[in-house]
Amino acid sequence: MSTAAPRVVTLKIDNKDCGAREDQSILDVARENGIEIPTLCFLDGLTGWGACRLCLVELKGSPKLLPACTTRVAEGMQVVTDSPRLKKYRQTILEMLFAERNHVCSVCVSNGHCELQAMAQKCGVDHVHMPYRYPKLEVDSSNDLFRLDHNRCILCTRCVRVCDEIEGAHTWDVKGRGIEAAVITDLNMPWGESQSCTACGKCVQVCPTGALSQKGTAVAEMHKRRQFLPYLTHMRRSHT
Ligand code: FES
Repeated sequence: MSTAAPRVVTLKIDNKDCGAREDQSILDVARENGIEIPTLCFLDGLTGWGACRLCLVELKGSPKLLPACTTRVAEGMQVVTDSPRLKKYRQTILEMLFAERNHVCSVCVSNGHCELQAMAQKCGVDHVHMPYRYPKLEVDSSNDLFRLDHNRCILCTRCVRVCDEIEGAHTWDVKGRGIEAAVITDLNMPWGESQSCTACGKCVQVCPTGALSQKGTAVAEMHKRRQFLPYLTHMRRSHT
């Protein structure tokens, strides 16, 4: 097995010359260079997943838009992170997320404490131009401590990844495809009956909306402590 250190590559992001290791993502390098790219499913310390597509960027010479969180840098790349086209795509993605489930900010317990809402404000989404689907989705209150409201889930899979990569329990997963997709515990049993859940609450900590919450606590009162993630990820990797 090769133990060679990753090569250093040079690239341009928004016309800024950047140096990077070849195993870094465009998002990593952009952030290191003070260039902000909108993200929702990405969370520092967890593996990039490419679920929300909000971090799409343009690459000179490529007709395709690429997710910055899962695309590795390469020598000579020329990346554009902000353009009228990207702005339009990001707004449309956010509108689709709102329309897909029951995100009604004015009556939501997460109002003012929701990353989806904050991102919509940041990206200038003040209307949803497509019909809401208003699906009839369940709320799972079977766990003694926590609650899962599918109506507010955006399928970012942060809960799945933190449970697998940090807690090592892999209680969470995703079933189904497209609009039928949903997060599940164990083999799609009520959360309260899960044999693998350690009730550590990490999934609740990383949820960007109010889909996962602590019972008896308003989302505004929950203290999200995500700074532990990069540290735990580093410790885990250094032991493998
Ligand atoms: S942040 Fe890159 S796809 Fe979600």
